[in-house]
Amino acid sequence: MFDYPIFEMPVIGQRMLMAINAVIHVFVSHGGAVGGSVVLALLAIWAHKRGDLAAYKMTFKILMVFFIVSTSIGALTGIGMWIHANILSPNAIGGLIRVFFWKWFTEWIVFNFEVVLLLMWFMTWKKNENTVEGREKSNRLGVYYAIASWLTMVIITAILAFMLTPNFDGQPWVDPEVFPGNVDYNNALFNPTWGPSLAFRTFSAIAFAAALAIMWTWIIGTFSKNPEDNDAKPRIIKFLATIMMVTVPLSIVLGYWYLSVIPESAKAMIPTAMMTREFEDKFDAMYTIIMATGGVVLLTTIIAYFKPKNMPYIAASAMVIAFLVFWGYEERVREFIRKPYIIYNYIYSNGIRPTDVPYLNKVGVLNHAIFIEDDKKILKEDKSNLIDVGHSVFLIECRICHTENGINGLKSLTKGWSQEAIRARLNNLPGGGTPYMPPFVGTDTEKDALAAYIHSLNKKGELR
Ligand code: HEC
Repeated sequence: MFDYPIFEMPVIGQRMLMAINAVIHVFVSHGGAVGGSVVLALLAIWAHKRGDLAAYKMTFKILMVFFIVSTSIGALTGIGMWIHANILSPNAIGGLIRVFFWKWFTEWIVFNFEVVLLLMWFMTWKKNENTVEGREKSNRLGVYYAIASWLTMVIITAILAFMLTPNFDGQPWVDPEVFPGNVDYNNALFNPTWGPSLAFRTFSAIAFAAALAIMWTWIIGTFSKNPEDNDAKPRIIKFLATIMMVTVPLSIVLGYWYLSVIPESAKAMIPTAMMTREFEDKFDAMYTIIMATGGVVLLTTIIAYFKPKNMPYIAASAMVIAFLVFWGYEERVREFIRKPYIIYNYIYSNGIRPTDVPYLNKVGVLNHAIFIEDDKKILKEDKSNLIDVGHSVFLIECRICHTENGINGLKSLTKGWSQEAIRARLNNLPGGGTPYMPPFVGTDTEKDALAAYIHSLNKKGELR
């Protein structure tokens, strides 16, 4: 059950480690690959149809930036997602592989097509750009690339949506008692949040990519030594702003649709997810963040559309920054509201399945922690290794969300608490205003050991 090596990330913790990689990946995959492919294909088609060769040639320069970022940072953080997920939640990844094996397999094949098409589009562009037939051929490659990029999003979104809503019409995708024997693969794929989240992600990714492209057009168009580029800049910015005029309002509507289908208990977690527990009742501040981000996008889009020639750089970059804030929040909220689960109603964030809790309470979690040495999991008769055993329980159950003394550190959270108070808190873990924590699982001895370990964090000079 806990038969995987344990990696402890000091200070920043496991969640932050994953979050940094995930947020960068979302920026690049949504803005660069999926949204970027659609926006650049549209831009190339538009420029060609208008016979605007200067804009067409400049599209290649923007494509070059997107190409470099997608194939380097995008690919690196994509692999990073796998490594991080495997380190953090091997059990959850195992559960997902059982359900999504062939879908993931398909995604990999499609991803290969995506990368090859991007390479072909990019590398044959120069050869093709000077004739009408050449440009048409090139544009077709752009369209195929955009379709392949979007298809990868279709599959990954299904998995993400499934983690939040694994049930369909009240039917569980799997009967947890007999897992993995009785999986309904179609329920898993067509889970209720898939459609809305895919629609929302598609259009907001296109809007984000258009903003990024506006910023690059601004930079290239302003600093290029070629007067044709300076000239094409406002025309391209206006076209990209037109894309935003359509996709930004559409994203807002689709965002509401998405919100309306997520489980009520998850929805109730949104204020905490956005503001942290300390500020969860500060609704004013929450709405200010939402309105400010939306306002910046709206205002800069209007400037780009009506004043593409004189758009100040600050507007072009503020537009992108607003999207970065938005995506950062979107990912944080989506991850947080699933708590205490990693797959809703099926597996807790720390990899323990609710159905296994009665059994683990009887035999203990450390009994199954095969990567922990015996003297750190079997309590000695004189109890001299109590704190070590407690640390092992922490590694299994709590390290996914807590550090010792860094982000969400147990040391500062329990400052001034007596060992009895900590012990009493463990009895009542999800309660007391922290619905995002899973319950304590394990034997009474393990609970004592964990309490002793947490208490030791605030005792200076004591060796562990
Ligand atoms: C799914 C993530 C998650 C897991 C797993 C988790 N916690 Fe927490 N815990 C939190 C969050 C979030 C907070 C709130 C922190 C804050 O108030 O800023 C918290 C708060 C706490 C607090 C302070 C509670 C209070 O009343 O102020 C204690 C103590 C604590 N956790 C102990 C534990 C222990 C022990 C474990 C392992 C058995 C554990 N947690 C597992 C997310 C988690």
